[in-house]
Amino acid sequence: MVSANDVRAKYLQFFKDRGHIKIPSALLVPENDPTTLFTSSGMQPLVQNLLGQPHPAGKRLVNSQKCFRAQDIDEVGDNRHTTFFEMLGNWSLGDYFKEEQLAWFYEFLTKELKLPEEKLAVSVFEGDNQIPRDEESAAIWKKLGVPKNRIFYYGVKKNWWSRSGVPESMPAGEPGGPDSEVFYEFTDIKHNPKFGDQCHPNCDCGRFLEIGNSVFMQYQKQADSSFKELPQKNVDFGGGLERLTAAASDEPDIFQTDSFKQIIQTIEYVTQKKYVDHPQYMRIIADHIKAATFLISDGATPSNKAQGYMTRRLIRQAAVKLRQLQVDSQWHIEKICRSVIETYKNIYFKNLKYPEDIPDWISMETQKFSQTLDKGLKLLGQVSPFDLYQSYGFPPEVIEELYQEKGLKLNKEEFAKSRTRHQEESRTASQGMFKGGLQDQSEIVTKYHTATHLLHAALRKVLGNHVSQKGSNITADRLRFDFSHPEKLTDEQIKQVEDLINAKIAADVKVECVEMPKSQALAEGALAFFPEKYPDVTSVYTIDDFSKELCGGPHVQSTGEIGRIKITRQEAVSAGVRRIYATAIS
Ligand code: ALA
Repeated sequence: MVSANDVRAKYLQFFKDRGHIKIPSALLVPENDPTTLFTSSGMQPLVQNLLGQPHPAGKRLVNSQKCFRAQDIDEVGDNRHTTFFEMLGNWSLGDYFKEEQLAWFYEFLTKELKLPEEKLAVSVFEGDNQIPRDEESAAIWKKLGVPKNRIFYYGVKKNWWSRSGVPESMPAGEPGGPDSEVFYEFTDIKHNPKFGDQCHPNCDCGRFLEIGNSVFMQYQKQADSSFKELPQKNVDFGGGLERLTAAASDEPDIFQTDSFKQIIQTIEYVTQKKYVDHPQYMRIIADHIKAATFLISDGATPSNKAQGYMTRRLIRQAAVKLRQLQVDSQWHIEKICRSVIETYKNIYFKNLKYPEDIPDWISMETQKFSQTLDKGLKLLGQVSPFDLYQSYGFPPEVIEELYQEKGLKLNKEEFAKSRTRHQEESRTASQGMFKGGLQDQSEIVTKYHTATHLLHAALRKVLGNHVSQKGSNITADRLRFDFSHPEKLTDEQIKQVEDLINAKIAADVKVECVEMPKSQALAEGALAFFPEKYPDVTSVYTIDDFSKELCGGPHVQSTGEIGRIKITRQEAVSAGVRRIYATAIS
């Protein structure tokens, strides 16, 4: 059995040897891209560079990017789909093109991974009314030794790639292009008789596995829907690490490769059941807990909003699946999470301050859900599916499945209608009751605002008075705080900062506000982010003798309202400036 660590290392080295610079994996929760919730391909952080902006690392890049694809969630359960995966990627930003790319990837597959040539098949773009048929790639494949009957032509649905899919759905300005995929054929699998002799690389019976996609990003969609050549011809390659490992092991089930082995074993252990008897359920549990573990580690802790809601859904679905395998999920789910961390500990989790936080989050979330899960399961068929969704927090797909399993009839259309109605009502309510809607939101923001003052003061006490605020940002889910400090905080320092803040919160100290002349406030040592921004007579907020800051408010009345604060991540912003993310746990 080939290991994913070996495949990753070989790939990175192969492209480094060919002049590529390794760039780090971006976070799963993109930081500067409001257009999308998750990082779902390696090119996502490089869009501007594909459009022409020079990349600081040069024109040849390589990496292994953590990816999450929410749109694949319903496919999970077969032998090859996952929501979380690693994408091995290499890029040419206006440097080499088809000739080198196809030859290198073929060499990597056949020489480094030693895949037998006769098990490979490739596809190229058949062309449409705007973009010509890709005879050039077909000719290169032939030259490399791929027989004619192993080169397949497909249209825009299969052999065109952009973030938005087919050319028609691309917004103006987006880059895209024809692509060429490579497939590995599992010859000893009896392909699904349903497809008979019609089976081909892109049929989904499982006989062929797509293991790499070279996108020739050379076009940009225009406002009039035409395509213009970009000033530079790029290569954007992506190949799923887990799938490449499966191919290199001639193992058609990626859940049997070492990216999942230990996780599946843990699921077998906690359920006291065999994978061969319950592959579908165990794959879903393994995938979802793995994805939730990585999402939490990248900042998407379970919540009711945006990315955090996806983490919540994944954990809840996994909990339901465990329950269906007769396991009291709340006691065991964290073991599965630990096996994920163990599987990746040498690659991804080694710099975690508190690796224990992730299993904690997952078990806390499961505990919260556990009671409603029990009640909901008992009431199945007695209350409406909409109530299960709305009052018991069952994810819609779980409701559909439970109904199916119990032989109950679910009126999908009616269910979908009530959900839409509910969404519309909530939207109208929040527009109509603008104030009330805003209040909810602002309550959380207010808490984080006071927490930011506590954090600022605690950082100065632990690290020294050189610490001063450089920026801050608050969302409903977390606070972010930038400050001057030359180096990474140690685990001990992070803990001291958290302890200081949480001691003040536990003491429920009153937050005082007094008006005073700005000069007096500054003379008394009050902190100020932008001293010049404040009026001559200004508000100063104090939290006993711990914190004193010039500020416009608003703040909570006393610190007990905040709830416990946990520092979830730290990173460098620039030389001498560090960034901390923290979350309130109520
Ligand atoms: N960006 C291409 C993909 O995601 C490589 O398939």
